[in-house]
This record gives sequence, C-alpha cells and structure tokens, in this order.
Amino acid sequence: TCATGDSQTVVIGLAADSGCGKSTFMRRLTNVFGGAAEPPKGGNPDSNTLISDTTTVICLDDYHSLDRTGRKQKGVTALDPRANDFDLMYEQVKALKDGTAVEKPIYNHVTGLLDPPELIKPPKILVIEGLHPMYDARVRDLLDFSIYLDISNEVKFAWKIQRDMAERGHSLESIKASIEARKPDFDAYIDTQKQYADAVIEVLPTQLIPDDNEGKVLRVKLIMKEGVKFFSPVYLFDEGSTISWIPCGRKLTCSYPGIKFFYGPDSYFGHEVSVLEMDGQFDRLDELIYVESHLSNLSTKFYGEVTQQMLKLSDFPGSNNGTGLFQTIVGLKIRDIYEQIIASKAKRPVAAKKA
Ligand code: ADP
Ligand code: G6P
Repeated sequence: TCATGDSQTVVIGLAADSGCGKSTFMRRLTNVFGGAAEPPKGGNPDSNTLISDTTTVICLDDYHSLDRTGRKQKGVTALDPRANDFDLMYEQVKALKDGTAVEKPIYNHVTGLLDPPELIKPPKILVIEGLHPMYDARVRDLLDFSIYLDISNEVKFAWKIQRDMAERGHSLESIKASIEARKPDFDAYIDTQKQYADAVIEVLPTQLIPDDNEGKVLRVKLIMKEGVKFFSPVYLFDEGSTISWIPCGRKLTCSYPGIKFFYGPDSYFGHEVSVLEMDGQFDRLDELIYVESHLSNLSTKFYGEVTQQMLKLSDFPGSNNGTGLFQTIVGLKIRDIYEQIIASKAKRPVAAKKA
C-alpha cells in the first residue's frame, strides 16, 4: 500500500560547481514563493538544509560517502562520484517524492565530517542543489525540472578571487591552483550534466568591452529546452523569431558599455532550445519594467512582478545584470511548473495513480 497516495512533492534539481551562486539563486527562488527559507529550527547548527513553508532545499554534499579525511586518503575530490553515495541519494529523494520522511545525513562543512542525520519531511517543493543532481540516471528521472548554472572559467575565476582573496585571505596563486586542480573532475563529472538540464544559465564575460578581463560586466544566456512538460520558454517580442535589441535610449538609462539583448532559436547538445541573452548591466532597476514589458511567457501573476522581485532583492549579487534577471525568471517558471503539476494531479482520478 501507499501511505502517501496524495503526496505531491515536486522535485527540482539545481547543479553547479561550488561558489557559482547556488545559494544566491535559492534565496531568489524561495522569495518568489513568498517566504525566506531558514535552517531547521533546533537542529544541528551546521545543517545545510533550508526550509520555508513551501520549499525544502537540501544540499547534495550531505551525500558525501567519504569525509574530508577519507577523500584525502583515497586521493579523490568531492566532485568524484566515488566520494558520493548515489544509492542513498536516490532512495531518499524517491522517498520524499513519494511522501515519506527520511533521516538524511549531514556533511559538516566546518569539520569536514559526517554528522548524525536530520529528519527531512516531504515538502511541497524539494530542491536538490549541489554538484551532482543530474549525474545518476535514477536521481535524474525523479526531477520534475532541472537547472544548470554554467559559469565560464573567466567569470568563475573573477568571483573566486573576489571571495577567497578578499574574505578568506587566499593568494592569487593558490586560487589559481585550486581551480586548476578541480578542473579535470569538474569537466568529467559536473560539466557533463548540463546536457540534461531543462534550463541553463550561462555566465560569460561581456562582449561589449573589447578584451574585458575584469569579469564585472557579464553576458548571460538563458537556454531553455523546448518540449519540456509544463515549461514554456520566455520570449522577446515574437516567439521563434531572432531578435537583437538595444533597449538603451529614452526609456532605459544606460551608461557605458550599455545593454544588449538577444533572442532566438538554437540547438544545445542536440536539443531544440530558445535562448534569451543579456549583455551589460542596468543602471536603474526601476526601469527594468520597460524590459519586462517586452518579454512574454514570464509566468508572472501580475504586470511588473519580475521588476518587483528584482527591486525587493536588489542587494543580492547579480541584481543589476542577467544573472539576477534570469534567476528571477526561472524562479517564476518553477512556481508555474509546480502549480501545473499540482493541478494536473488533482484532476487525475485516484484509481489511475501509480502504485
Ligand atoms: P554557492 O552556493 O554556489 O557556493 P554563492 O551563492 O554562495 O555560491 O555565491 C558565491 C560567491 O559568488 C558570492 O559570495 C559572490 O561573491 C559570488 N556571486 C554569486 N552570484 C553572483 C552573481 N550573480 N554576480 C556576481 N557575483 C556572484
Ligand atoms: C564541498 C564542496 C566541494 C568542495 C569540498 C571541499 O563538498 O561542495 O566543492 O571541494 O566541500 O572539499 P575538501 O576535500 O577540500 O574538504
């Protein structure tokens, strides 16, 4: 029998290398759903989980099978599948999707050890974020929607320097070395997952400034797979056309180097996709409404919701460029997908439910 016949946990996967903006994205996402997510009350202070009314975000580092010492002894990185327990990941995500609570391990990022597990109850929306949400085919099949944050090497480097040099006192050389050391495993096990993603946010250096290597101004692409159930890609002006748009002028203030949008069809790992691209950054966030009014299929509940969300979270990293804009849009899409899945299940007769 099925204790959980009416359970409706929708599972979202978010993949990216560490330090690539997953937690920032998660904060934008949970804000779309109304409540900020917080660590479980009264639990392990080093828990990686975030819980709001609707959403539970679990960090897949919790499925490390080798702790920091174990990894060192065996000479494997955290990116290596051998350092991760995919059987347990699959079992627990499946259980939650079926409406059953689980005792999930905790990987303690402070000590590098595995702490005693914490109880995770099935939420309305479960987000699994981390290095490998789409690596194991069984886990991948449980995902109702998947996202890959693809930060180009140049930009990753600029962000790491910003964080590790300024906040953690690392040297430029050691940051370079650590990125280089991770690269083979990153290429082999993390980057390959992007072919499975329903949406990819790709972050590249700007093309508006010749030979820019500061990594401050960004060109961001939102790559949206066609034909994904409950997901209709956003478009600019006219669906399926190819558009290059410079919105700067009377209605949008732009300082150097300006803003450029692009929209059009493309192919990504053999899949038909729509791509929306923004290069440059906004001077005034309140004027974003002008851009929003030219985008369609945004899954907003009222006119101006994208702009309102961006203004509300204007202190988050990436709020003045395509990273924040596209993360906000993907958040609205996830809300829409969730609502459609719930509506479709409500219509389905009980007898037709999967055993
Ligand atoms: P993760 O959860 O993947 O480790 P975070 O969301 O904590 O990543 O972001 C790590 C760092 O990267 C932040 O402190 C910030 O400096 C930088 N960062 C993240 N997102 C952006 C962005 N959109 N624009 C600029 N910097 C960003
Ligand atoms: C986590 C992160 C990895 C990072 C690791 C540190 O698992 O997700 O990206 O590499 O911690 O591992 P280390 O072996 O350096 O403690």
